[in-house]
Amino acid sequence: MIFESHAHYDDEAFDSDREELLFSLAEHGIGTVVNIGASIAGSEATVKLAEKYPFVYGAVGVHPSEVAELTEEGMARLRSLCGHEKVVAVGEMGLDYHYPEPDVSLQKKWFEMQLDLAREVGLPVIIHSREAAKDTLDMMRALHAEETGGVVHCFSYTKEMAREYLNMDYYFGIGGVITFKNAKKLKEAVQYIPMDRILLETDSPYLSPEPHRGERNSSLNLPYVVSAISELKGISCEEVTEQTERNARKLFGLEG
Ligand code: NI
Repeated sequence: MIFESHAHYDDEAFDSDREELLFSLAEHGIGTVVNIGASIAGSEATVKLAEKYPFVYGAVGVHPSEVAELTEEGMARLRSLCGHEKVVAVGEMGLDYHYPEPDVSLQKKWFEMQLDLAREVGLPVIIHSREAAKDTLDMMRALHAEETGGVVHCFSYTKEMAREYLNMDYYFGIGGVITFKNAKKLKEAVQYIPMDRILLETDSPYLSPEPHRGERNSSLNLPYVVSAISELKGISCEEVTEQTERNARKLFGLEG
């Protein structure tokens, strides 16, 4: 079944129908979901969702755009959440230069602290990197991010950059953007990335694929992503679904 590696079901966009939606996933072929914390409150909510739904696992971390709220106390809270049996990764964490705030030095400081935490607790990382390709890679190399392993979520860089992450044994989160007509660079990268390094993700409620671009996203839209990857790779949708599930189970330590 489809393994959704990156969703934010704690987001208020799901307040009206969260339970109904989550319970409907299985009948649409979505077997497992990793819910991703983007703030301290979001990480707490992620663990609650994981406790409530057997097919939901969690990642706890603070998104680069939210690090202004982060303190030593917040890091201690994340460390304690990492001990929960259904927490399978640390993140999302990283660098986002799309907006001027928070300050780059602050983003780097908390990215490093969260990478250190992942190493300390022995969990893989969920990397968010937007318009910050070189700095992200430089930091990950300097801090030996190959030791924790992880996934570059919503990978949006070139095939040359993909090669760098492949050398660090990272996975690549591929979502709705792959269905966009103007995603030429990403399509080239996906053709280049080996199938055993690709994870399916939505980033729900964001980044809905065609033909639902602009609408609220959910894991129910993953078949559009599967079909786009199957076309690019020249393999069946079943193969895409099976291989990406194996990849995710391996990365998150959920092999049966
Ligand atoms: Ni996200």
